Amino acid sequence: MDADQIRAHLDPIRHEFADPRSLVMPALKFAQTEKGHLTREDMAAVAEATGYSPSFVESVASFYDRLYTRPVGNRVVSVCITLSCMLRGSDEVWEALCEHEGVDHHHGGTSADGRITIQEAQCLGYCDRGACIQVDAEETQGPFTPEEAVKLVEELREAPTPAELWR
Ligand code: FES
Repeated sequence: MDADQIRAHLDPIRHEFADPRSLVMPALKFAQTEKGHLTREDMAAVAEATGYSPSFVESVASFYDRLYTRPVGNRVVSVCITLSCMLRGSDEVWEALCEHEGVDHHHGGTSADGRITIQEAQCLGYCDRGACIQVDAEETQGPFTPEEAVKLVEELREAPTPAELWR
């Protein structure tokens, strides 16, 4: 992603941000859509497009857990591990997904084929429908049993990768 593409994305929405520093977030989210994560070159392009320093841009990118400064899977599956979902079985959902994808049961991770990343999420705002899952930046879904969650990732693995990876 280059600075001109990022400027073209920001121009129609610039007026919505009273503080121009806030433009760094949508710029990073947009830059991330190309590869699903942010490279140093992407962050440099965001710095050029927004006029802020590369170190400021990188500090924003490294702070937020939905901005990825390392490669992740084609689809990112976030499992809510906050109390309401835990009480409704999200720990079993988490275990089943980590087992199925062969990733670390404590930290999650990306499957060997690079298709699926499993990660923890804090409350997704869907507490009465736990155990909840969000795929990329799509709507939160639930409730899931472990079996239903595994079926979901199997479907995601077979589905075509979206052209733009909004996360
Ligand atoms: S506790 Fe899981 S969505 Fe709120």
